[in-house]
Amino acid sequence: MALLEVSDLRTSFFLRSGELRVLDGVSLEIQAGEVLGLVGETGSGKSVTAYSITRLLKQPGRVVGGEVKWDGRDLVRLWESELEQEIRGKEISMIFQSPREALNPVITVGRQLTQVLRIRRGMDRREARAEAIRILKSVYISDPESRLDSYPHELSGGMAQRIMIALALSCQPRLLIADEPTTGLDVTTQHQIVLLLRELRDRTGMAILLITHDLALAAQLCDRVAVLYAGRIAEMGPIGHLFRSPRHPYTAALLASRPRLGLQGDILTIPGNVANLMRPPGGCRFHPRCPNATQVCAQQQPPLEPMDPGQRVACHNPMPQRQELAASG
Ligand SMILES: Nc1ncnc2c1ncn2[C@@H]1O[C@H](COP(=O)(O)OP(=O)(O)OP(=O)(O)O)[C@@H](O)[C@H]1O
Ligand code: SF4
Ligand SMILES: [Mg+2]
Repeated sequence: MALLEVSDLRTSFFLRSGELRVLDGVSLEIQAGEVLGLVGETGSGKSVTAYSITRLLKQPGRVVGGEVKWDGRDLVRLWESELEQEIRGKEISMIFQSPREALNPVITVGRQLTQVLRIRRGMDRREARAEAIRILKSVYISDPESRLDSYPHELSGGMAQRIMIALALSCQPRLLIADEPTTGLDVTTQHQIVLLLRELRDRTGMAILLITHDLALAAQLCDRVAVLYAGRIAEMGPIGHLFRSPRHPYTAALLASRPRLGLQGDILTIPGNVANLMRPPGGCRFHPRCPNATQVCAQQQPPLEPMDPGQRVACHNPMPQRQELAASG
């Protein structure tokens, strides 16, 4: 059984001008210990997916349908008190795009960490301090004893992100949701954070949902990738397969638009405009931009269906399988 199973998740923002259908039936699953990448252009709904899973969505956003199954329980319908006490920040932790904003600016790093450890893990003051030092060491913070007395503004960007990761790890979660964890960091620090996440996964066995618009980052860290387009999963599969033989025209366009493979910071952009979510195109939301579009595409939404081994694709006219893969079975 998957650790997390999201089925047909629908989230809207109810604005004065109308309903913005941001997530239009997102389905994905994460296995224990797996790193799943969620990639897509800006505005495709990656962060909204994370906030919908953890129910941290703010008004006027609301989950309007679907299920988020965690250990057989549906997080969409769980009491808020149960979610807060048993799941969020404990079994599922999240790190955000801008760590400095997520850290409390007027409380020292040490107090933020020890507070979590005392409340969530029932430690006394001394135990919590010792555990905080151990966690800071595990994310390679040098001189952790004195770092405990630092305020967030005294930290470099990379250090602040490590502290966020330390906070997220303090409850030994089974799933870490990392929303653009390297944005705004220099290339060397980005690389160090990637290595750290990979090592933590190997060491602790926790699963990671890595949200990124950076395909190079996804390639370095992920086992599988789900490609999001205008609030729907276009394609999902093992990272190597998806890179070598994309089947959805949107994935193919994303890969073709990358400046160069392996380059850090690739921004996903392809010709045409992202779908207007207030009045989304009928049928396949990608059809106004798609080179493979036929009449049926404007009329029927393609379901996400198995195609190659381990790969699922939502497309009426998928790209052909690349020769060498077809030959190798
Ligand atoms: N607070 C909000 N109010 C209204 N609409 C919102 C709000 N937050 C998000 N949206 C809508 O949801 C869409 C998806 O937003 P989301 O933040 O999930 O995009 P994203 O894929 O994370 O993009 P990025 O790569 O830029 O972080 C946006 O295009 C926007 O239309
Ligand atoms: S369903 Fe049609 S429009 Fe959508 S991606 Fe496939 S070919 Fe293109
Ligand atoms: Mg985002």
